[in-house]
Amino acid sequence: MQHLLSSLGPVVAIIGAQWGDEGKGKVIDMLAEQFTVVARACGGANAGHTIVVNGKKTVFRLLPSGSLHDRHVFLGSGMVIHLPTLLEEIAFLKKEGIDIVPRLVISPKAHVVFDYHKEIDGALEDRMTQKRGSGIGTTRKGIGPAYTDKVMRTGLQIVHVFSVDVRKALESRAEDIERMYGVTIDAAAEAKACAQAKKLLAHRVMPIEELLAETLDAGGRVLVEGAQATLLDIDHGTYPYVTSSSTTVAGALQGLGLAPKRLTGCIGVAKAYCTRVGNGAFAAEADTEAGDRLRERGGEYGSVTGRPRRCGWLSVPDLRYAAVVNGFDCWNLTKLDVLDTEKVIPVCVAMDGEKPVFEELPGWQTSTAGITEWGELPVEAQRYVECIEEKTGVPVRLIGTGQGREAMIVR
Ligand code: IMP
Repeated sequence: MQHLLSSLGPVVAIIGAQWGDEGKGKVIDMLAEQFTVVARACGGANAGHTIVVNGKKTVFRLLPSGSLHDRHVFLGSGMVIHLPTLLEEIAFLKKEGIDIVPRLVISPKAHVVFDYHKEIDGALEDRMTQKRGSGIGTTRKGIGPAYTDKVMRTGLQIVHVFSVDVRKALESRAEDIERMYGVTIDAAAEAKACAQAKKLLAHRVMPIEELLAETLDAGGRVLVEGAQATLLDIDHGTYPYVTSSSTTVAGALQGLGLAPKRLTGCIGVAKAYCTRVGNGAFAAEADTEAGDRLRERGGEYGSVTGRPRRCGWLSVPDLRYAAVVNGFDCWNLTKLDVLDTEKVIPVCVAMDGEKPVFEELPGWQTSTAGITEWGELPVEAQRYVECIEEKTGVPVRLIGTGQGREAMIVR
């Protein structure tokens, strides 16, 4: 592990290579201890990582999954933050004996997601579904509408909601919003939520760009926790079935205001198979029977929405593309054990137009759950991993073999 860490250097990004839910939380959990700061750059409460505190399972949507470690936690300028959700997460941790506030830093430039953004998100999805049978399949957490406000330059940043009259600012927009989307803004309630957040968090709003630079100049280490994943990126993903932020490593650096030349390492995280929630193309999607099997074995249900995830096979062209866009130093292949019962494992090795071309690799049909040594993996499983390395040109340095923290092979 130390060898891997020193090869990656002091600024490491963890980036999803598929459509999210690759299991980034586990490698972050493993690495966070070795870093000074864990920083989240983009997205909002559309993310969801299940974490266990004092034996209780909860889902974090805004706080990075590295938050449980006694490290500084930064929320970057590229994020869109629903303040009541953030307060809930902080309160949950407090109840469990963890006071995260003193080590939390929020960028004044992060944008605020209001409840009315969530309502617009839902209204747009419903309207699209009525018109053409299906929508984007968003998480309905207000992400698209909040980023729309941001790029239209009508949004409110954290610094604004902690300094201006929020009620007045929202009342001035209410008529337009009602006319455009049929959504009513409850300006008083939104302002109240901001005031509550201000009371607890105003002193934790600081220029994270400078703090990150100072941390590094003083010899500290920064772990950049990516949210969502490459194929959901607004520029590089499967548009329009994407999220509204920049989910690649470049987007993460931009969202943090961290100079790109500071980055020293980037781990691409990919499931040993593939899943997608929401609509949009999924060339390597499995048939119903295999899809159901992967879903049950992998527990593939959305942590934010509970939606069953669509399941399929690994796509080499997608992984290669993600590696090209992000410049991965290595892969963390996750959930290898989910494939334990498969007789043969199809891998999409190329695309023939819109059609996937599959190669079938032999399965291993024995348990790999909890294995921590490369040499203990069945040869077929080793071959599977090596095939991914050969076909993507990126080494697989970390292999997840189960839910537990320790169920990971480090090569
Ligand atoms: P939005 O980000 O809620 O606007 O949703 C846009 C698309 O991104 C939908 O297909 C969502 O299912 C997907 N999405 C957003 N966040 C995540 C995530 O954290 N994991 C997986 N899919 C996500």
